[in-house]
Amino acid sequence: MAVLVTGGAGYIGSHCVLVLLEKGIDVVVLDNLANSSSESLARVAKITGKSAAFVQGDVTSTEDLESVFQQFDIESVIHFAGLKAVGESKQKPLEYYENNVAGTLKLLACMGKHQVKKFVFSSSATIYGEEAPVPYLEEYGQGCTTNPYGTSKAMVETILQDLAESDPEWSICALRYFNPVGAHPSGDIGEDPSGIPNNLMPYISQVAIGRREKLSIFGGDYATLDGTCRRDYLHVMDLAEGHLAALNHIEKGFDAINLGTGNPLSVLEMVSAFEQATDKKVAYEIVGRREGDLPEFWANADKAKNKLGWEATRSVTEMMADTWRWQSQNPQGY
Ligand code: NAD
Ligand code: WQD
Repeated sequence: MAVLVTGGAGYIGSHCVLVLLEKGIDVVVLDNLANSSSESLARVAKITGKSAAFVQGDVTSTEDLESVFQQFDIESVIHFAGLKAVGESKQKPLEYYENNVAGTLKLLACMGKHQVKKFVFSSSATIYGEEAPVPYLEEYGQGCTTNPYGTSKAMVETILQDLAESDPEWSICALRYFNPVGAHPSGDIGEDPSGIPNNLMPYISQVAIGRREKLSIFGGDYATLDGTCRRDYLHVMDLAEGHLAALNHIEKGFDAINLGTGNPLSVLEMVSAFEQATDKKVAYEIVGRREGDLPEFWANADKAKNKLGWEATRSVTEMMADTWRWQSQNPQGY
């Protein structure tokens, strides 16, 4: 019996595959390598001494999905595969809905056909929308998101709820991630964005390694203590372990659970934590606000603790030191 990890060659997926393999769980990865390299899985094999079966294929292809479910004895699915760039989703909404919504529908249909009804989904804090008060509690549900990426995640959560109501055999858990950062402590796997990073952490580490001149901090006049936005950054290894906890504790029906630390940090606090943990200077300039950014949000992380027995344990210093180990050992990524 194996766990199918879609998108398992990607940033979060590869760390999750590592955690599953280390627990002695058989893993099959389905990934089209649209935003990753199979080198990540080779590195996971090097670290763990165990290999996941790898199928290069697409979740939007019923043929690719069928071949996986026919070839392997799949027991449950963790579904990371999808597109994730907020800005790009506004330029290419159809690609986002095709990959994230249509891809998930095809995957669920194939699972149902093969009587595999245990599903963990990569959702996002972005589904809370603009109106929810902080910290975000799961019961606030889905607000109105301002971009197709966020809408695609909210749409999938709705589909998953409807599916669980239609058939009591399904066990479905949507994990709403906050801001994952960091890397495996070996420095062998980590986040490898193509092109100019959209997210803060890889931008900081690329400035420190000399690939970018300086960090532009988007907005210094928010109503926060230091004027910069605050987010709930969590270590990717904590996040990966959250998926194992979800697989172990998943119940019949649908549930949505936040994975965050519950402690927000500002952009300036992140820069200073990176400098302290690594002894590297990060040049920055405060520029105008980025469209769509909220001043601050973070998780109420109680439900994960109560229902999954999971809580984030790694410190911000570990997030920074591990990011830097990955970046400095792999200056150009994989
Ligand atoms: P990633 O891009 O590194 O990983 C996604 C993987 O899916 C990649 O390996 C990519 O090649 C693969 N993929 C994309 N479309 C596919 C398709 N149609 N068929 C097969 N494979 C496909 O991203 P990540 O940061 O690891 O994110 C994983 C999941 O978590 C995504 O669903 C993302 O939306 C969600 N998420 C990420 C964050 C974040 O900040 N990184 C936050 C919240 C939620
Ligand atoms: C964090 C903070 C920026 C880059 C996004 C998605 C969200 C989720 C995680 C998937 C913000 C500031 C950033 C830079 C900066 N992904 N920043 N300069 O926006 O919280 O969330 O990724 O689900 O859906 O929206 O993360 O890392 O982009 O930004 O000042 O060059 O860093 O303004 O305050 P965000 P981020």
